[in-house]
This record gives sequence, C-alpha cells and structure tokens, in this order.
Amino acid sequence: MERIRILVVEDDLEKRSAITDALSDMEYLQLTGKAASAAEALKIMEEADPDVMIIGALIPGEGYSLAEQISASFSQIAMIMVEEELKEETMRKAIFAGAKDVLVYPFSPAQLVDSIYRSHQLEKKRQVIRQEKTPALREKNRRGQIFTVFSTKGGVGKTFVSTNLAVSLAKSTAEKVVLVDLDLEFGNTALALNIVPRYTIADVVNEIHNLDQELMENYLIPHRSGIRVLAANAQPQMTDFINAGQIEQIIKVLQAGFDYVVIDMPARFHDLVDPAFRQSDLLMLVTTQEVSTLRNIKSCLTFLDSLNFPQHKIKLILNKAETRSEIKFKDVQAALQQDLYSTVPAEYRLVSSSLNKGIPIVQLYPRARVSRSFQKLTHHILGNGQEKERTGFLKRLCK
Ligand SMILES: Nc1ncnc2c1ncn2[C@@H]1O[C@H](COP(=O)(O)OP(=O)(O)OP(=O)(O)O)[C@@H](O)[C@H]1O
Ligand SMILES: [Mg+2]
Repeated sequence: MERIRILVVEDDLEKRSAITDALSDMEYLQLTGKAASAAEALKIMEEADPDVMIIGALIPGEGYSLAEQISASFSQIAMIMVEEELKEETMRKAIFAGAKDVLVYPFSPAQLVDSIYRSHQLEKKRQVIRQEKTPALREKNRRGQIFTVFSTKGGVGKTFVSTNLAVSLAKSTAEKVVLVDLDLEFGNTALALNIVPRYTIADVVNEIHNLDQELMENYLIPHRSGIRVLAANAQPQMTDFINAGQIEQIIKVLQAGFDYVVIDMPARFHDLVDPAFRQSDLLMLVTTQEVSTLRNIKSCLTFLDSLNFPQHKIKLILNKAETRSEIKFKDVQAALQQDLYSTVPAEYRLVSSSLNKGIPIVQLYPRARVSRSFQKLTHHILGNGQEKERTGFLKRLCK
C-alpha cells in the first residue's frame, strides 16, 4: 500500500506537535511538509506533493482562503480543517472551501488518523467516479480538438499561453488534455511546468512504426494539474531527425486519445510543423502591442492567406496587453484587420513568480487578472466563441 503523503499547515506550535506526533508512528502515513502560514504552504506545495492537507483555520493568511485556493488549483488533495470550536458557520465555511472534514482541537491521535484515512478514501472515490464519467463509446470515437498556439514573433508568450490554456481547459472540464511542445529546437514547455522530461518526442519518433495510443501513453508526462505533456528534447539537430509525416502521425494518435490537444509552436513556419497547421481546429495567433510585432503578425496573416489557411480558424490573442499603451486594442484590430479573440494582460511580477516556481499562473494565482483572462478564453473556446472580445466604444457601451 502506498503511503498517504501529508502536509501540515499550522503556526501554533502546540497544535502542530500534536498533529505531527500522532503521525510519526503510522506506517502508512508520511509527513512530507510542514508550514506555518498560507504563503509558506503554497511555496512548498510542489515539493510536499501531498495527498492530504491538515490546515489550521487560524493560520496567518487564513486557513479557509488557503483551502479555497487549494481546491481551485489542486482539486485532488483532500483537506482537513482544524478548528477551535465547531459552529454551524465553521461547517459551512469548510464545505464551501472544499474541505473533507473538520477536527476540533484538542482531538485524539486516533481521531486524526481516522479522519485522514476517510478523507483520503473519499477523495480517491471521487476521482474514480470522475474518470468513469467518460463513457467507453466516447473513448472509442474520440476526435480531440487541436488548438495550435503560434506566432512568427519570438518571445510574445506562445509557451505561456499554451501551458496556461491547457491547464485551464483541464480545470474547466473533466476532459483529457495533452500539451505538445513542437518547438523542437528550443522548446521549454517542460521547464515552464517544472517537469524533468524522462521521455521526449524523440522517443516517440523512435517507436513511430509501432505507435498506438497505448504506447504513446508511456511517453507522456503527467503534470499535477491533470494534463499530460509531450516534451521536446530541444536540440538544434532535432529538425534533421524528424519529418513532417511523423509529426502528423503523432498528432493523429494524440487526437484519438485526448479531448484537447494544445500545441506550443516554434516562432517560424517550417515544413516540419506544417501538419500542426493543417490539422488544427483553431490557430491561436499570439501578438503584442508593439509595432515590430504587429508588422510581423501582419506578414504572418498574409502568408497564411496565401496558403489558403481558413480565416475562420485564426483567433487573435493579444498577450501582455496594456490599456495604457500608446497602441490601443482597437489599433491592433485595425492594423491586423481582425477582431481580438482574447486579451491576456501583462502582469510581470506574477508571471515571473509563476515561471520561477514552475507552476502555471492559472494554478498558482487563480484569481489574478491574467488567470481570469485564461478562464474567459477557455469559456470562449468551449462556448464556440459566441462572445466576442469587446473593445473601444463597444466595451464602454456594454459596461
Ligand atoms: N502576460 C504576460 N505578462 C507578463 N509577462 C509575460 C506574459 N506573457 C509572457 N510573458 C513573459 O514573456 C517571456 C516570453 O514568454 P514565452 O516564453 O511564453 O514566449 P514564446 O513566444 O514562447 O517565446 P519563444 O519564441 O522563445 O518560444 C517570458 O519571460 C514570460 O515570462
Ligand atoms: Mg516558446
């Protein structure tokens, strides 16, 4: 039996010792982290990788708001709240925050251990039910949608948009999402997700003649957000070693096994990644408000047009958007003669913190403006984009 990993978040030393002492002799329980505040807990989440969190309601940063953040970002973790007294209001708070149980201090070691086992079991059952919800038939006839995130300009945020879009899709639906790094030479998707890739697309290419969904599954790296990742092994000579036919086959196999295939692209057109364009349902074209980027994207649109790429599939994403920029959103639309499908605000401090931690911003700061823009983008995509991004006077009119 695998040990249940536990993270304890409590600043009161007496309470914390009561909890950790009770866990110390239990063969199937493993204390993987201790924190004294909500902020500290979030910092060590990845490392502690808990199945169960025991959270003091009175910790700095407030236990219930930590619990809310955890259920939004790490829904597979069972949470137990530790309270001073049991009141109806406390119970309601715990339920709304997504906790599985509430313990009133002081409690006995046996009560604590019992609560941990039960909460863990309940969470496991919930996960099984969630998986079983997908009928076998749908599994068989699955044809996932392909969202290709592209720009001919480097550094505009393709990797940032594709990783957060993939995680946001997984959070908003109970469906299967795979993120593919097709930036074969310089891809850094794995880094953005703090993954050390055991396998990469090169391993898949080596097996291309036997490739089916089952084999593919072995090469995908699970991320704790629930998505799977097909990593690039980012070497300049990679493009000599792979051909477009292989990329096409890889995308087809992924499409058969997943509901959504999100592809992070290199910053240029290349024959190799041509199948990603041809097979995509939506082409998310990322731009920023800079003149040089707009010029570049304008040429990119002209080139796509010359290839007869279907115009209706092109969705313009304005990343690092700033309302105070000299170039306004309506200027971007006018320059590119295309409506904005989505705007993702510039938030340098939070984005850099998310990159440094290797946790996608939609998981790390789910309530931040930039994360909400991804939720909106996701709903837009899932709702087939009925709701257009409103800009300029239209936006003011509709406020
Ligand atoms: N909305 C945003 N707000 C602030 N910074 C951002 C935002 N989006 C991306 N960045 C930053 O911009 C930089 C480039 O982002 P990213 O690597 O995603 O771009 P890219 O288009 O994939 O680049 P490349 O062409 O090299 O693959 C990163 O340092 C990232 O932190
Ligand atoms: Mg990139």
